[in-house]
Amino acid sequence: MKEISCPVVKKDHGDKVSGRSLYVGDYDGEGVLTGKLLHAKVAHARIVEVSLPELPQGYLYVDRNDVPGDNNVNIVKDDTPVYARETVEYIGEPIGMVVGPDPKEVERLLSEIQVTYEELEPVLDLRKASEVFFHYEYGKGDLEAAFAQADKVYEEEFETGYQEQAYLETQGMMAVPEADGRMFVHGSMQCIYYVKGAVMRALGCGPDGVHILQDPTGGGFGGKEAFPSILACQVAVAAHKAQAPVRCVFDRREDLEYTSKRHPSLCVYKVAVKDGRVTAMDIDVKFNGGAYTTLSAVVLQRGLICADGVYNIENLHVVGEALKTNTTPTGAYRGFGAPQTFFAVELMMDHIARDLGVDSLEFKEAHMVKQGDATSTSGMYHFPVPLPAMIDEVDRACDFRRKHKEYAKPQTGRYRRGIGMSVYFHGAGFTGAGERDTIKAVCKLHKYPDGTVEILASNGEIGQGVRTTFPKIVARELNLPLEKVYYDQPDTARVPDSGPTVASRSLMIVGELLRRAAIQLRDKWVDGEDQMVEEHYKEPNFMIPFSLEDFHGDAYPTYAWGVHAIEVEVDTCTGRSQVLGATGSFDVGTPIDYNVVMGQMEGGFLQGIGYASMEHMNYDNKGRIRNNSFSDYLIPTTRDVPNLNCILHVEEYPDGPYGAKGAGELPLVGGPGAYVEALEQALGGVKLHHAPFTIEDTMNVILKEGL
Ligand code: MOS
Repeated sequence: MKEISCPVVKKDHGDKVSGRSLYVGDYDGEGVLTGKLLHAKVAHARIVEVSLPELPQGYLYVDRNDVPGDNNVNIVKDDTPVYARETVEYIGEPIGMVVGPDPKEVERLLSEIQVTYEELEPVLDLRKASEVFFHYEYGKGDLEAAFAQADKVYEEEFETGYQEQAYLETQGMMAVPEADGRMFVHGSMQCIYYVKGAVMRALGCGPDGVHILQDPTGGGFGGKEAFPSILACQVAVAAHKAQAPVRCVFDRREDLEYTSKRHPSLCVYKVAVKDGRVTAMDIDVKFNGGAYTTLSAVVLQRGLICADGVYNIENLHVVGEALKTNTTPTGAYRGFGAPQTFFAVELMMDHIARDLGVDSLEFKEAHMVKQGDATSTSGMYHFPVPLPAMIDEVDRACDFRRKHKEYAKPQTGRYRRGIGMSVYFHGAGFTGAGERDTIKAVCKLHKYPDGTVEILASNGEIGQGVRTTFPKIVARELNLPLEKVYYDQPDTARVPDSGPTVASRSLMIVGELLRRAAIQLRDKWVDGEDQMVEEHYKEPNFMIPFSLEDFHGDAYPTYAWGVHAIEVEVDTCTGRSQVLGATGSFDVGTPIDYNVVMGQMEGGFLQGIGYASMEHMNYDNKGRIRNNSFSDYLIPTTRDVPNLNCILHVEEYPDGPYGAKGAGELPLVGGPGAYVEALEQALGGVKLHHAPFTIEDTMNVILKEGL
């Protein structure tokens, strides 16, 4: 292990485990008004009238008429209103906010508000949705010829459901009008500069009119990428009207029903096979975007780029749409569109292999990309593709190949076993030219006269360890003890915009900028002086420029790689399946802290197993999400943690700090493919087409197949 990989105690560890960390809900409430949102009760309607009860002294109602700037939240597009316009587009859409000193009184007033709706027909079924938010299409080779010459053509449809981020801390935000006229907004979030841009627009002020601080944040997983921008605008508008601090913290039910979650998907794969090889794929992807666009464009882009998996498919056509339905807007969740398409392509390859009578792993291996091969978008895999070695590692650890062949044979008895493998990647960093053209990250190091160095960057600690790994990098280059390097909760008033905390980019992109900044400072270091250095992002020169218009070029500079094997045992009397073992090999480059990276790998692996098996969420025929508590929306608990075996395989990336690549999202991506393939074996070789695959789904197969 490299020295930089040796684990240290996380800098935020003591405060978090002792309960000293102040989350947004923990701040002293003295003089702070409580805000509670009025959520729409119907999925699609024109608002005829909002009739308020008499408001006692000190209580106010805030809605779109109180927005001093623009009633549109700046996300990728700006169709999300701060407070509802003339219509509501989903159950839960915020119409207004009741604000006042006593939370119980705020609740009472809220319950007495009468909203008169003129109901409109909602669109709830993705298959019937017609309003296209985003449409992309790309391809290569000669699809028509490949299908014309095929020995056999396969066509299958795959579906995935919602997944809710289920962070421990619900969404929460607080806005404080300051004496100098600035609005100070702080709370639970991943992206302080996204929130800043949104609040500036809603308040109609310039960059000096507002500053944003990330409070200690109890998990994000993508759920605090865009949603906090909306809530921040709502509390800022309320605080502006009240001219007093306003805080709004969601309860768990609000959070589960009304905040963004992973896009449900519907993928149709049409595949041509000739002489036992896949020669072409024609892929149609549909994502349920919910009522507003939020992040659907970028989630869909990543999903489409990953649609042919880790396979070298010469003739390819991919078309995808994010569609509007009158449901909670969906958004970012660890993996960002890729878990959906990787699930589909992994099962598709598995199904074709079985039909051809060959082992699915051997079939996949015969199609796997290698260094120097073209990517789906005609970019290039510039760096080593270590999948063969990683598959061997997993095989050695869990005896995959032998079990995979054995469990394929007919089984009898109450308990049946299966093992599945998925092979996948995560494109590290922003998709396409995002880093170069949009983010343009800047970071700084401030050295104080006593020799302490402060990191100035905008990336937030969300459990992934940046408050520790950033200082480790800087301390190493400066030969300082770790205690001498400090990274505080970021505030836009103090730190430059080093970009959002998303896309597994922070360590790889900003970590490398900090390493270069530290080298600069080391070269200029003068004892006793106050010094500042700055670094700007430069795109690596090997990149084939990506064009979003034709989806052509390097969508990512490099890739983190993953191999998952999951072994299950199904109880044919109850339908319950138990994960006997889960083995993963992960290449995220050099781990900047072994424990931090292992925590990410294990947590993500488990989240992927939850997504594949038990995390079922859906809405009823009125469009209301039915799973609104942790007894109705099940996530893995400590009792569900299987024997997880995570192996780190290190391929160093020359443009990442000490060879590190993006790590955070990778380990979730392969869960559904491996889990459902394992279930297929245990269930006698049936072909399954959706995730999550729950106990009920399993029972239905057992009954139908007479197992
Ligand atoms: Mo993330 S899912 O890029 O916040």
